[in-house]
Amino acid sequence: MAVTAGKKLDARALRADFPIFAQEINGKPLAYLDSANTSQKPRQVLDGMTTFYETSYANVHRAVHTLAERATSGLEGAREKVRAFLNAPDVREVIFVRNATEALNLVAYAWGGNNLGHGDAVVVTELEHHSNFVPWQYVAQRQGAEFLMLEIDENGDPNLSQLDEIARDHTVKVVATNLVSNSLGTIHDLTPLVTWAHEQGAIFVCDAAQAAPHMKLDVQALGADFVAISGHKMCGPSGIGVLWGRGDLLQAMEPFLLGGHMINSVRVDKTTWGELPHKFEAGTSPIAEAFGLGVAIDYLEDIGLDAIEAHEHELAAYALGLLADVPGIKLYGPGAERRAGVVSFNLDGIHPHDVAQILDLSGVAIRAGHHCCQPLMQKLGVAATNRASFYLYTIPEEIDQLVDGLYAVRKVFA
Ligand SMILES: Cc1ncc(COP(=O)(O)O)c(C=O)c1O
Repeated sequence: MAVTAGKKLDARALRADFPIFAQEINGKPLAYLDSANTSQKPRQVLDGMTTFYETSYANVHRAVHTLAERATSGLEGAREKVRAFLNAPDVREVIFVRNATEALNLVAYAWGGNNLGHGDAVVVTELEHHSNFVPWQYVAQRQGAEFLMLEIDENGDPNLSQLDEIARDHTVKVVATNLVSNSLGTIHDLTPLVTWAHEQGAIFVCDAAQAAPHMKLDVQALGADFVAISGHKMCGPSGIGVLWGRGDLLQAMEPFLLGGHMINSVRVDKTTWGELPHKFEAGTSPIAEAFGLGVAIDYLEDIGLDAIEAHEHELAAYALGLLADVPGIKLYGPGAERRAGVVSFNLDGIHPHDVAQILDLSGVAIRAGHHCCQPLMQKLGVAATNRASFYLYTIPEEIDQLVDGLYAVRKVFA
């Protein structure tokens, strides 16, 4: 661990924690600028999970032997770490799922299935990742409810001037939006939307998949009713995500997945559900993955979320400054002060996939595509963009490598 809480982070020192950076890609130092897609894993998480498997692995909540008790306390210890990380009031409100997508589907199906019907409306924004768009669209249609989308304004923010008209003409039951856009990197002030949602008597569902890795989250201060996050984007393993939900809402909901582990009693005429959180955790849990997420949270908190956020702002400002000079570049999204470490761009006349492929030859990993945001791409008038994204281990030299690579791409297509 290279820094202590409250200090500016030292990305160069932190990189030593990440074995992936020990290699070269195509004979060049690896510039991993795809962290919004998924983050790399520090040795602390990798070693923690290996030790867990080697010393403490068994199934959880089902047996009384020593290993089962160790595994159960590993999983439940991680749940408490997540609770504290999110400042959730009660550990039973922390539901382990596979990823943010599953968390959002859980709410759409289990809450929407019982609470949405004809005459109701679900509101999302044009900036949503498909994971916070498609489940709502699908469940709304299945339930006979309306599915509405807030368009973005010229600044790329949800256009709140549409809210009055929506409130006048619709019974809004759900407002679902992200806190940080995976495509533009914008950090949103959700307060007006949360307030408006609650004035309508709607629930507010926050997709915090991109926010949780980068900034301090406080579900109580946010005022959301449900919050979804993914472990793999915040230095944890893949296969683990979290749904936090307000206890009274979770209590009132039907389960999403059914089977072992989530029941109280099973009889041929009737099955009753277990207590929270187990009601929503059918089947064998992602045990080591949850443990690994707990280690990742320790890792992030030792560095300090404030330090991570500040580091990303610096990198975003640095990148935006250099990229602006690349001939024929179009940059998307707000100024550095309002964004996490995400920069989307296109090079005039060059397909993003060609850009990404040529960059890979010089060791630079970026994402090219629609970023699971097709409605936003339509608004921007493009099929795809390039996206470079940064994290706590990103150093300015990697951004230099990106920019040099883009000049090389320009030469190839000159
Ligand atoms: C804003 C946002 N929401 C949801 C998701 C879905 O996350 P996962 O694929 O881990 O379910 C992503 C992943 O890129 C995302 O960026």
